Amino acid sequence: MNDADLLPLHTPRLVLRRFDEADVQPFLAYRNDPVVARYQSWENCSAAEATEFIRHHQLQQTGVPGHWLQIAIALKDTNSLLGDCAFQVQADDPHQAMIGVTLAREHHGQGFATEALSGLLEMLFDHLKLHRVIANADVENVASWKLLERLGLKREAHLRLSLWFKGRWADEYLYAMLSEDWIRHSRPATPSVARPG
Ligand SMILES: CC(C)(COP(=O)(O)OP(=O)(O)OC[C@H]1O[C@@H](n2cnc3c(N)ncnc32)[C@H](O)[C@@H]1OP(=O)(O)O)[C@@H](O)C(=O)NCCC(=O)NCCS
Repeated sequence: MNDADLLPLHTPRLVLRRFDEADVQPFLAYRNDPVVARYQSWENCSAAEATEFIRHHQLQQTGVPGHWLQIAIALKDTNSLLGDCAFQVQADDPHQAMIGVTLAREHHGQGFATEALSGLLEMLFDHLKLHRVIANADVENVASWKLLERLGLKREAHLRLSLWFKGRWADEYLYAMLSEDWIRHSRPATPSVARPG
């Protein structure tokens, strides 16, 4: 799909955009922060790997089934990188996708992830017309599943010891949002019209 009209995507404080070369250093800094990487699959990202990753996602088309698209999250005022979010349309069903998000530690606790994923969900439901979006969260990654609940995703399952992860079996929660949930969550209910007395 041509994403010229999808990215960049603006929210009140942020811009979701393609990565650029200036992002390599801040990207490396948060990827190699053990607190940020604790519940993520990666470890020890080199400068060459970061450059290659960014190049790959600069060229990756939007919404190709089976392929992750990693999107840079930057501050609108400065264009500086805060983190990234990502989605992958399912290889076997183009109406469903999985999402994820990462922020540098110094940008936690300010609502940036909520704001960025609200923008991403708007793109997935309103523009790509998806039916269902899912996310997995390690049960111990409380910030992650609290974020998903804040966004209105619903916990559908507790998967017991479902993931071999950094030397241990981890329990995961499965969260999901349907397009109808998104409509309810993102559009305030129409106020009832007061009848003349
Ligand atoms: C998952 C992750 C992005 C969540 O970050 P976060 O800072 O908790 O989420 P937000 O940016 O939405 O901020 C929400 C927090 O800021 C507070 N906040 C401040 N201003 C806010 C605002 N304007 N809007 C919403 N929340 C706001 C909220 O109260 C909340 O704090 P609380 O959890 O103590 O109640 C972050 O922990 C992270 O990057 N972890 C490492 C990567 C990872 O594990 N990702 C998940 C797997 S994909």
